[in-house]
Amino acid sequence: MRLLTLTGNELRKKFLDFFAGKEHLVLPSYPLVPENDPTLLLIGAGMAPFKAFFTGKVNPPKTRISTCQKCVRTGDIENVGRTARHHTFFEMLGNFSFGDYFKREAIFWGWEFLTKELEMSPERLWITIHTEDDEAFDIWHKEVGIPAERIIRMADNFWEIGPGPCGPCSELYYDLGEERGCGSPDCAVGCDCDRYLEIWNLVFTQYDRDEDGNYTPLVKKNIDTGAGLERIASVLQNKPSNFETDLLFPIIEHICQVGSLQYGVNLKTDVSLKVIADHARSMAVMIGDGILPSNEGRGYVLRRILRRAVRHGRLLGISNIFLADTLDVVLKIFAEAFPELVEKRSYIQQVIRQEEERFQATLAQGLELLNREVDELKEAGKTVLEGKTAFKLYDTFGFPWELTLEILEEQQLAMDKEGFDAAMREQRERARAARGEAEIQVAIPDLSSLALSECSYEETATRGSILAMWKDGALCNAATDGDEIAIILDKTSFYAEGGGQVGDIGQLLAEIGRLEVIQTKKLPDGSSYHIAKVEEGSVKLGETVTLRPNLARKAATARNHTATHLLHAALKKVLGSHVNQAGSLVGPERLRFDFSHFSAITADELRAIENAVNAEILAATPTGILETTQSAAKEMGAMALFGEKYGETVRVVVIGDVSKELCGGTHVKNTAEIGNFKIVAESSVGSGLRRIEAFTGFGTLQYMQGQEDLLEQAAQLLKTRPSELNAKISALFEKNRELEQQIKQLEQKLAKGEVDELLQKSRTLQGLPVVLGQVAATDADHLRDIADLLKAKMGEGFLLLAAVIDDKVNFVAMATPSAIAKGAHAGKVIKEAAKAAGGGGGGKPEMAQAGGKDPSQISASLAAAWTTLEICLRD
Ligand code: ALA
Repeated sequence: MRLLTLTGNELRKKFLDFFAGKEHLVLPSYPLVPENDPTLLLIGAGMAPFKAFFTGKVNPPKTRISTCQKCVRTGDIENVGRTARHHTFFEMLGNFSFGDYFKREAIFWGWEFLTKELEMSPERLWITIHTEDDEAFDIWHKEVGIPAERIIRMADNFWEIGPGPCGPCSELYYDLGEERGCGSPDCAVGCDCDRYLEIWNLVFTQYDRDEDGNYTPLVKKNIDTGAGLERIASVLQNKPSNFETDLLFPIIEHICQVGSLQYGVNLKTDVSLKVIADHARSMAVMIGDGILPSNEGRGYVLRRILRRAVRHGRLLGISNIFLADTLDVVLKIFAEAFPELVEKRSYIQQVIRQEEERFQATLAQGLELLNREVDELKEAGKTVLEGKTAFKLYDTFGFPWELTLEILEEQQLAMDKEGFDAAMREQRERARAARGEAEIQVAIPDLSSLALSECSYEETATRGSILAMWKDGALCNAATDGDEIAIILDKTSFYAEGGGQVGDIGQLLAEIGRLEVIQTKKLPDGSSYHIAKVEEGSVKLGETVTLRPNLARKAATARNHTATHLLHAALKKVLGSHVNQAGSLVGPERLRFDFSHFSAITADELRAIENAVNAEILAATPTGILETTQSAAKEMGAMALFGEKYGETVRVVVIGDVSKELCGGTHVKNTAEIGNFKIVAESSVGSGLRRIEAFTGFGTLQYMQGQEDLLEQAAQLLKTRPSELNAKISALFEKNRELEQQIKQLEQKLAKGEVDELLQKSRTLQGLPVVLGQVAATDADHLRDIADLLKAKMGEGFLLLAAVIDDKVNFVAMATPSAIAKGAHAGKVIKEAAKAAGGGGGGKPEMAQAGGKDPSQISASLAAAWTTLEICLRD
């Protein structure tokens, strides 16, 4: 057995140092969210951020690069925890050559690192190559000296990840020894068991695959290598699986402590512990890289992972909030490799906690429903859960469908995925119809034969020639009026939609044609294309056109973009440094900025933010664009927003001492050009996410003019001037109060008259004065006032009054102490009176109120009252 033992951190460093020694530029890991690559949801390999370098569309900062890349793969998620080596999140060590060295160096260096630096015994290592790769065979056999029988040819040794650069590969396996094998006589390299561990993959990247599966040879040959950090660590640390290495085990230990559990005793428990350890790392990195849980795209991947971890917590008997607390253990592991995560600790923790709380709140109910359904399925002898039940679990209880499926599969059941999809589609349709949204799709043809790396954005360009043009997804040479086409120019002053900023619109003037540009967007490689309609005449491939972007709109957009940076800085100043951009939309009309903040913003804070931004505008600070390196930008404290890519140079927008942000958008030259800044809305757009909408320049002017119009209209309605509105409204309120007073007095007068009339109708029952009658009252309080007045005037006796209010009958009854002494009871009497009018109610002997539905029965009610009172007095 080998002797060298390294920690995960030591191993990572040793790898990067080794390749730095081979003249590689060592770059930090790229964020998990791919930049300009719609074919990928998440970065799943070290090479993924470098696709444009491999194809030659973009020049790399150096032709040799080495990284340790954060990767997430979810294709095998159900294997996580069940095998020694599957993960959702893992770190991939890689050395890359972009048209620099090729097979020989890659092979020699990989071998040198493993056998010399890590001191792995060559007898433990096995090699696989692509069936037809004689060149690799010769290097391994003749030059490195590997015996021919340890070099295995395999037809599937070809590596690719979606469309893009790919090629044949050569993999290195470590033999962990017979005792780790499955014992099968066929057990050999490539067997699914744990004996032979793939630890290194050398990809000879020499093709570019398109969406249709065509492989075009690349002009320059490249190298893409990948080595799983956790796997090699498990070998060096002599652990039975990746989960026991120092890169994961502290999380397992922590969960054991939380749940008073023991690792290594029960297989099921171990699986859940491993799942949580793996998922805890994934969620931390995903959130740290700007992903928030949602029902779509990467947000859904995150939600699924997080909720799956919560469920495994339940399986372990942990029903409290526990995931958020794993973060500290995760951050300890990652502190050296990804210090940016430590900086975002409290933000990440809040996101985890909120999502965990949300799911915990419905998990038990959802599981109960699912268990019931499972029982019913089994009883009925069925094996497939209906799609609409799975959808209900998703929609109401937040169960990702994959989680439902997994729970079902544990019981040997299945799920009707088609039915689920149909239910989902229906709901989406409903939502879309509700939004009245139209979806615009522009099919992009295969542009790989074109040298698009030549085309550039230049703010001051006035003319550009047409490099490519397509219609209905197919390249074309000419277009005439009425055609809707897409166009790529060698030079353009139209800004393409990106970084939250809308694309420019305007006109392109051809020799004998005029085109209206309705949108400018970017291709995955970063080049811009214009979507345009030929309004008149025609346009030909290769011709030069005059660029006429809508400059007023462009300027308004630039004002809003610079104001967005000022707003970001002001938010940090007023609310605190935890505020982080979560998304933004910069258009000509308004700007919208979403950010993390965990409580509502007060009116005072909003004012302070608005004032801070306006102060910076009035300070008339010049702005500047700085092209520099990623690390220099970090050093100067530039805010690197989520998803920014590390390139050769980065673009930093500097506004005096106030703001430094990595940004590719367009900006004003001096803050004074913004004119002014007005916040018009502040709202919540998700848990822990706030949104501010604001205007600048003419936008504010228009907004203010709108407000002015409103005031003017209100003033006209009140026949006054806006400046007199307050006085006028106060006077109106005063007048209103006076009128109300007068109405009350009149009512009282009326009531007095009514009371006098009622008194005259007073009868006696067994010596007790009794008044029963109907009066006119506006509401129940009024009716009671009349009754109080009547009672006072009677001095002694019993009364019951009815009034029709809103088509219903209200009753009130009162008895004086001497009447009560004689047996009178307001509650009992009113009960019978109300019953006669189709209602109910009751109350105390001295006072009671009740209601009835039928006004036509009032005389019956009064008669019932008389009879009941008579009975009361008799008893
Ligand atoms: N890109 C190769 C892999 O991920 C190295 O295995």
